[in-house]
Amino acid sequence: MPPLDAKPNEIESYWLPFTANRSFKKRPRLISGAKDMHFHTPDGRKVLDATSGLYCVNAGHCREPIVKAIQEAAGRLDYAPAFQFATPEVFQLSSQLALLAPGDLDHVLFANSGSEAVETAMKVALSYHKIRGEGARTRFIGRERGYHGVCFGGISVGGMVNNRKAFGNMIGGVDHLPTTYNRAKQAYAVGEPDWGAETAEDLVKLIGLHDASNIAAVIVEPVAGSTGCIPPPKGYLERLRQITEQHGILLIFDEVITGFGRIGGAFSAERFGVVPDMITFAKGVTNGAVPMSGVMVRKGIYDAHMTGPDYAVELFHGFTYSGHPLAVAAGLATLRLYKDEGLFERARGLEKPFADAMMSLKGLPHVADIRPIGMMCGIDLESVPGKVGARGYDALERAFFEHDLYIRLATDTLVTAPPLIVSESQIGEMRDRIAALLRALA
Ligand SMILES: Cc1ncc(COP(=O)(O)O)c(C=O)c1O
Repeated sequence: MPPLDAKPNEIESYWLPFTANRSFKKRPRLISGAKDMHFHTPDGRKVLDATSGLYCVNAGHCREPIVKAIQEAAGRLDYAPAFQFATPEVFQLSSQLALLAPGDLDHVLFANSGSEAVETAMKVALSYHKIRGEGARTRFIGRERGYHGVCFGGISVGGMVNNRKAFGNMIGGVDHLPTTYNRAKQAYAVGEPDWGAETAEDLVKLIGLHDASNIAAVIVEPVAGSTGCIPPPKGYLERLRQITEQHGILLIFDEVITGFGRIGGAFSAERFGVVPDMITFAKGVTNGAVPMSGVMVRKGIYDAHMTGPDYAVELFHGFTYSGHPLAVAAGLATLRLYKDEGLFERARGLEKPFADAMMSLKGLPHVADIRPIGMMCGIDLESVPGKVGARGYDALERAFFEHDLYIRLATDTLVTAPPLIVSESQIGEMRDRIAALLRALA
C-alpha cells in the first residue's frame, strides 16, 4: 500500500452522484458542519436548510440525543452478523415501528437505503404470491414521474425518464399508471387537488389487459417527492386501495420521503386513511444520521412465509448491514426525539403557515405552479426555452452562494421540506430568500 498522502488532495477523483460534476468542480458547494436548521460552510457561512438535507433530517441537524446514542453504540458493538443473529435493540426498534405503522403492518425487514427497501418490497411481493400458489403474479405497476430509487427494480417501476433512459431494458413485465399531475386542472392547489382521482381508473384498464392473476403489486409514492412534490388527488389513494384489494394485488406505498412527520403522522398512510400492504421507509427513520431503511409488511404476508421446516431460511433476502447496530441506535434515539418533542404534531401545526408562505411566492418571476402539502412544497419554474434545467441550476447555485439557502432541485422545480423544528420566522426567512432569488434569476 502506498503512503496515503502520496497524492495531493484534489477535486477530480470523486464522481458526485446525481450532480452536474463539471459545473460543481468549477465552483464546489462545500458543507463542513451542521446544527439544527443550518449547514456550516468551510468559509464560515451559515446556510439555512430548506429541504432537510435530502428530506431526511426531520429533527434538525446534529441533535445531541442522536449523536450520543450513535457514539455509545459505536463503542459498545461495532457490528453483529445480520443473518441468524440479532441484537436486543433491533427488536426494540422493530416493535416501535410496528406500533407506528397503520393497520397490521407489524413486521419489518431492514435495509440501508430507500433503493434497497424498494427492491426488498418487490421481492417480498413476488415471494408472497409464489408461496400462496399464485406464482404467475409477477407483473408490477408503477406510475409516471414516480421515484423508487436507482436499482433495477426501482427504476423499472419508477417513471422519471432521466433515471431510466440510459439503462436498457430494466426488469420486464412493468406498466405505469399515468401521473396524477395536470397543471391546467390543478395549478396552485393547496394540499390534495380536486382533479385527478379518475387517473386511478387506468389501473382497471391494465388489469383488463393483463388479468389480475398476473399482477403482483402496484407501487406508488403517496406524495410523489423527487419529481417535485405532487400531492395525490382527493380520493385517488382510496381508489387504488379498492381496486387492488378487489383483485388480490398488493399495494406498496413508498414512504421514503413521506414518512416520519413530513406529510402527517409517522407514515402518510395515516393522514390519507389508506392502509397499504407494505410501506417502504428510510431517511427520517434515523434523522439521516446513519443509513437505514426498511419495509413494513402486513402480518398476513409474514405469516404466509412461515412455512416449511423450522430450521430452514424462509426468505432468501437480506443485507450484510440490515439492522446495523449504529443505525438501530440512531433509529431508537430519533423516534424518541420525535416523540419527546412532539415533532409530528408540530409539523401538522406548521402546515398552514408553511403553505401560506410558499403560496405567497405566486406571481413572482418564473413561477408556474406551487404545490404545498404537509411540510413539503414544489415550486415549478418556467424552463428556459431549449435549456430545461438551466434555470433550476442557476437557482440552486445562487441560493447557496448569494442567499445562504440550501434548497433541493428537481430539474426546474424547487422543493422545500424544512426540518420539522423550523420556526415560523425561519419559514418567513426561507420564503424571503426564495423571493429574492427568483427576482435575481435570468
Ligand atoms: C420515494 C423514494 N423511494 C426511494 C428512494 C431511494 O432512496 P435512496 O436514495 O436512499 O436509495 C427515494 C430517495 O429519495 C425516494 O424518495
